[in-house]
Amino acid sequence: MAKLSVNVDHIATIRNARGVSEPDPVAAAVLAELAGADGITIHLREDRRHIQDRDVEILRRTLKTRMNLEMALTEEMVAIALKTLPETVTLVPEGRHELTTEGGLDVILLQSTLKQKVALLQQAGIMVSLFIEPDMEQIKASHKVGADAIEIHTGMYCEVRTESERREQLRRIELAISAARKLGLVVNAGHGLDYRNVSRVAAMPGIEEFNIGHSIISRAALVGIERAVREMGVLIKG
Ligand code: PXP
Repeated sequence: MAKLSVNVDHIATIRNARGVSEPDPVAAAVLAELAGADGITIHLREDRRHIQDRDVEILRRTLKTRMNLEMALTEEMVAIALKTLPETVTLVPEGRHELTTEGGLDVILLQSTLKQKVALLQQAGIMVSLFIEPDMEQIKASHKVGADAIEIHTGMYCEVRTESERREQLRRIELAISAARKLGLVVNAGHGLDYRNVSRVAAMPGIEEFNIGHSIISRAALVGIERAVREMGVLIKG
């Protein structure tokens, strides 16, 4: 059965919008673990727009499950990973102006740097996953640079609008899973998955873990609103 790693970045987005200390992604991570999450995913972006260094440090000390640290392939991030020692590092491309991670990593282009950094992280006992499009050449290159795992970018599947396009994307994902597993790579998946589209990917055998954030945090806000309003109402009206 595939595992679920919950991305709590957007709890930090809400916190940072006010420049205060709540809601705390650390508290959200504890609650996600109590609800059965198999791991917690955080993306420490170079511009620190959501997760902060303090969150990474406290989560490292408090998580009971596994930490998946998403990060760009920079000297700064590699140094933070080597200090933090998350169970997994997922290397992602990062553009300053993007709203969220837009495409997969170009492993072919980055081959020589990746080979060196992947080995460095692995020597510290960290599992290294590469966030890539479901593309054969990228999968082969991921194997070649020595990655332990790939995370298949499911964004395209989530974005297409017609059933035939959706089927085509599901087929790409299926082929990618099979090719990666034949090469001995662990296969994770994520990006854009929500309560409507996740089942068809979850039904595919061979995926180790799903990394899901935005849809879970969005739903948490909506399913929690009644209780939150009721509690405030009681404080005001008794
Ligand atoms: N996987 C990776 C590599 C990501 O960058 C993100 C977004 O931070 C996710 C998964 C989660 O995507 P979403 O928030 O759309 O569920």
